[in-house]
Amino acid sequence: MAAAYDAGVNFFDNAEAYASGKSEEVMGEALKKLKWRRGSYLVTTKIFWGLHDGVNERNTLNRKRLIEGINGSLERWQLEYVDVLYCHRPDKTTPIEETVWAMHNIIEWGKAFYWGTSQWDADEIVAAINIAEKHHLHKPVTEQPEYNLFERQRFEKQYARLFKDYGYGSTTFSPLASGMLTGKYLNGIPEDSRAALKGFDWLHESVTDKEKLARVDALQSIADELGCTLSQLSLAWVLKNPNVSTVITGASRVEQLHENMKAGEIASKLTLETLKQIDTIFGVKEEEEE
Ligand SMILES: NC(=O)c1ccc[n+]([C@@H]2O[C@H](COP(=O)([O-])OP(=O)(O)OC[C@H]3O[C@@H](n4cnc5c(N)ncnc54)[C@H](OP(=O)(O)O)[C@@H]3O)[C@@H](O)[C@H]2O)c1
Repeated sequence: MAAAYDAGVNFFDNAEAYASGKSEEVMGEALKKLKWRRGSYLVTTKIFWGLHDGVNERNTLNRKRLIEGINGSLERWQLEYVDVLYCHRPDKTTPIEETVWAMHNIIEWGKAFYWGTSQWDADEIVAAINIAEKHHLHKPVTEQPEYNLFERQRFEKQYARLFKDYGYGSTTFSPLASGMLTGKYLNGIPEDSRAALKGFDWLHESVTDKEKLARVDALQSIADELGCTLSQLSLAWVLKNPNVSTVITGASRVEQLHENMKAGEIASKLTLETLKQIDTIFGVKEEEEE
């Protein structure tokens, strides 16, 4: 976190579900030690999956759970407020109106400044905005979607009008497809990588997918031409999209962070021609783009 902050990062993402709350505790402890001025950084957290198996405590955005959820989060963070509180997934059973009212109240009580959505469908987001406008409540202002060279459809197609018509923000996640786009899986699964971790079996299929690996391999010549690494190129590609408000990047060690922070310089070198070459590698045809 210190290396990120020194490099200009001011946005730190978390969720109550990460390591069952432990992740917020660890980040809160780090913030206490770092003693940064509170106004100089943002922390965000997300609620949906819940921490307990009680009735209506799992996979929900009901009012009781959201309010108890933010109270628990703030206790773990040892903070008075988070900057953005996200609804980590849409809840198909709780009326959106109930969720909007609860998020509005949380903001009014000063426990969060803004609220957002994560992996919601565009129609659910528009419904939330409309309900908020009807009752003069705080609207959701940003979506936290997956967006990377392999995962483009929802962001580029489904959300297009959200960005254009509503000025909706986006704090995108997994820009390196969990490390796949760094090229580290081209010759198998390194022992010290995320895909080798216990509990990350879900990643195996993707990081051993021959078609995906071939696309990553083909990207190398473009990175070489630009004089950068695959990680830097893949991050730069996300940054280049004007609808991306911020890129939430992950790093398991400081060297990765130092490498990745240079992506900003590469983004300015990405010409239309290079972007077209990248689209071809990833099988995106011109008519699809229009
Ligand atoms: N809203 C949601 O549902 C949701 C879902 C997922 C993530 N997120 C958020 O987004 C954040 C970032 O997601 P992510 O961690 O999946 O992002 P990512 O940038 O796609 O993957 C990060 C991982 O890639 C590897 N890596 C990064 N830079 C590297 C480099 N230069 N060389 C080699 N390996 C490198 C590291 O893993 P190893 O070194 O361990 O291999 C690192 O932990 C998360 O921490 C979370 O806050 C949100």
